Amino acid sequence: MDKFLIEGGIPLSGEVGISGAKNAALPCLAACLLTAEQVTLHRMPRVKDIRTMQSLLTHTGTEVVEEGASTVRVRAGRITSPEAPYEVVKTMRASSLVLGPLVGRAGRARVSMPGGCAIGARPINLHMTGLERLGAEIHQSHGYVEASAPNGLKGTHVHFDRITVTGTEDLMMAAVLAHGETVLENAAREPEVVDLAELLIKMGAKIQGVGTSRIQIEGVSSLHGAEHTIIPDRIEAGTFLIAGAITGGDVTVASCDKDHLSALIFKLQQTGCEITEPGVGKLRVRALGKLRSVDIKTEEHPGFATDLQAQFMALLTQAEGISFVTETIFENRFMHVLELVRMGANIRIEGRQAIVAGRTPLSSAQVICSDLRASASLVLAALVGEGITEVNRVYHMDRGYESFDLKLAGLGAKINRSH
Ligand code: EPZ
Repeated sequence: MDKFLIEGGIPLSGEVGISGAKNAALPCLAACLLTAEQVTLHRMPRVKDIRTMQSLLTHTGTEVVEEGASTVRVRAGRITSPEAPYEVVKTMRASSLVLGPLVGRAGRARVSMPGGCAIGARPINLHMTGLERLGAEIHQSHGYVEASAPNGLKGTHVHFDRITVTGTEDLMMAAVLAHGETVLENAAREPEVVDLAELLIKMGAKIQGVGTSRIQIEGVSSLHGAEHTIIPDRIEAGTFLIAGAITGGDVTVASCDKDHLSALIFKLQQTGCEITEPGVGKLRVRALGKLRSVDIKTEEHPGFATDLQAQFMALLTQAEGISFVTETIFENRFMHVLELVRMGANIRIEGRQAIVAGRTPLSSAQVICSDLRASASLVLAALVGEGITEVNRVYHMDRGYESFDLKLAGLGAKINRSH
């Protein structure tokens, strides 16, 4: 298994390119199932989860052709096997995103239940009750969800018990071919949900209210092909801004949308970092001296993103004072804490809250990644750890960050991947 060897103490500087958003590319790939015509997606990140989703589409009988560095052409001419097998789903829970499109297009779906994962139980009950509301019959057996709607789905009113990103995406995709109007209340407002809706609208779907908590979908009889460029990955961009801050450097992220990062920008400024816009779609971070402690609480967008909590916590170990980190989205998203403590951080967990006392010098250690964003947190800590830190099981990073080590090296980091 690959690992990173990282020498700490080097302030990062320079400009780094940002790939397409994994969490927008995944639902957009699933949306290709909704038409028999070709859909072309640009700015696709070449990461493991995307390859997994592409192979899942191939399994359904869909044609997937990668072109150049970041384009994919998808054509679901005929869906021969509307299912997502266990072997695929166990490696990527976002496979549940094919549920809605398969039922909407093929009238049935058989998708392996995603198991739990490091950060929490992550059930998909809200996806299933929503599909039932739309008229699908749902059965669970042998670890699979079987959904069927032989006469098509029927538009209706769905209210989510709690905000769910892929739940909103799944049901939006199920509703675009349903008979009549569907209203999704308490829907997710993440930029990735908006990006998916923009693709669906290009394919001929009738959707209003995207980006708000009330989405209205007028069902149409069929969708046609389209071409779409995936939004930049705000979590990758945020991770590099934090890397610039934690190393006391001067880093510019290209091609990012600052409106997608307003909570992070505000918090970085509160710690004492300077954030400027050196050009259209660019953000620059400069650490101007000692970092001040701040409190963060993760919330659904536009709140502080849970996917940046672990990375920001690494930064807070270098801030003077006590910081409170509250995680409200997932029940077990502090897996990075004990590894940070092994590097010298002073962090105490009390339920949903982690209390970080800084500033503590970090020393190199052998650490282990547990999930995608916890991995990023450990890499950031290693960038300021004294000595050479060994970050193990970086396959977690390869799931969602494209060439992360090469991009960091481009900013001056001393990082090597060893097999
Ligand atoms: C998406 O996961 C993202 N993944 C996650 O990113 C992200 O952390 C999360 O949204 C929150 O922003 C993708 O988009 C592929 P949720 P998702 O449904 O949709 C509970 C990363 O690092 N819930 O919004 O699975 C759930 O357990 C990943 O890139 C139910 O109870 O998250 C959680 O506590 C990690 N029942 C909360 O809702 C359901 O049916 C929010 O989950 C669905 C969700």
